[in-house]
Amino acid sequence: MAELGHEVVGLDVDEKKVNLLAQGKAPFIEAGLPELLERNVASGRLKFTTDPSLIADAQIHFIGVGTPQLQGRLGADMTYVDQAVATILEHADAPQDGRPVLIAGKSTVPVGTAEGIAKRLQESGKEIILAWNPEFLREGYAVQDTLTPDRIVYGLPEDQETGRIAREILDECYATALAADTPLVVANYPTAELVKVAANSFLATKISFINAMAELCDATGGDVTRLAEAIGHDDRIGKKFLGAGIGFGGGCLPKDIRAFMARAGELGVDQALTFLREVDTINLRRRDHAVNLAEEAVGGRLVGKKIAVLGITFKPDTDDLRDSPALDIASRLWARGAELAIVDPAAAETLRERRPDLTVPETVEEALDGADVVMILTPWKEYTQLDPKVILPLVDTPNIIDGRNVLDPHEWADAGWNYYGMGRTVSVW
Ligand code: UDX
Repeated sequence: MAELGHEVVGLDVDEKKVNLLAQGKAPFIEAGLPELLERNVASGRLKFTTDPSLIADAQIHFIGVGTPQLQGRLGADMTYVDQAVATILEHADAPQDGRPVLIAGKSTVPVGTAEGIAKRLQESGKEIILAWNPEFLREGYAVQDTLTPDRIVYGLPEDQETGRIAREILDECYATALAADTPLVVANYPTAELVKVAANSFLATKISFINAMAELCDATGGDVTRLAEAIGHDDRIGKKFLGAGIGFGGGCLPKDIRAFMARAGELGVDQALTFLREVDTINLRRRDHAVNLAEEAVGGRLVGKKIAVLGITFKPDTDDLRDSPALDIASRLWARGAELAIVDPAAAETLRERRPDLTVPETVEEALDGADVVMILTPWKEYTQLDPKVILPLVDTPNIIDGRNVLDPHEWADAGWNYYGMGRTVSVW
């Protein structure tokens, strides 16, 4: 927002993060973000604080707090959204320049949340109005997805005059993207809230669909990567998000489909989303499958076998470990007695802090040294570009499990490795 020319104050309760950000440093890995932060903090357009009084004169308050999965339940934890609304209500000066102040909700929330917040705002008597304005950014592409989004969604209040003002304020905020003809979808609150969870559910479904096909390929000797390529040529299906492997993870897809199911249950339409339970089950079964493959590769028992795990984040180009399939698989292998050596270009330090029980060597060579099985679980290019011939002498037994189907099976087999893909065998074709 600062890059687009706005004056921005970022408020958070986490002092450590705020201090880092205030120095123009990103508290996580995200391509392009450090440069952007540095530039805009230096220009004075972007400030970070833990002091809520500094939000008093804002025209728009974006709520971008987390809505994690509730402990032991499917639903989303709304505590942080509720607290953010309370903070804005307490500290925002409304109106601003003769117009109501706008809250723009970005957090992914159960459908119906916006209506509840709008009621709260109305009851407060303050001139604060609400729009729901979901974002669709992907980790690793967050800067690009924010500066040049593929679509903008406004969820506006039913009251026409209030809706008109909310739209006017949002249009000013997104002037650059709108001038570049970014598609804009204007809808009511529930639609805007649903857009985000519907999009993530669709993506999750696509991944589980291809992983189900991987199971069929494993049972029949088919190759799921060729299958995906062939069906992807049909542009009604499309090639993207048909990567079979150990399945999806991260801070969004898994918890969003679960919270969506929980909300559908509350609304009495749980049957509409029963299929998402299957999507989740297929996804989790991929992790069992990877563990089973490792067991198969060592001929049965994992106890005392050395497994080199290459990549531990939920996907490459991030240091995010939230619901990482790779970390889950590694933990299960460890629980079965395997001796693990885990490497990751971004999350090694965090992993050492959080999981002192796991061995995290400095180099790939150390991890590979004497390994009985090598598993590529996150397709960082550092690992997908390894030369099978060069690393062969390092390992004890040349077993390679390609958890993301990113290696060339022939190249590895020709170099002397036992190649295990996910729904993929070494075939002459
Ligand atoms: C996702 C959505 O893509 C984004 O639009 C939304 O705003 C937030 O949630 P993100 O969590 O960054 O973004 O990850 P994404 O790129 O969608 O990948 C999710 C998971 O699916 C990763 O674990 C990835 O490895 C896996 N994946 C992705 C597959 O297993 N196969 C694929 O073909 C694609």
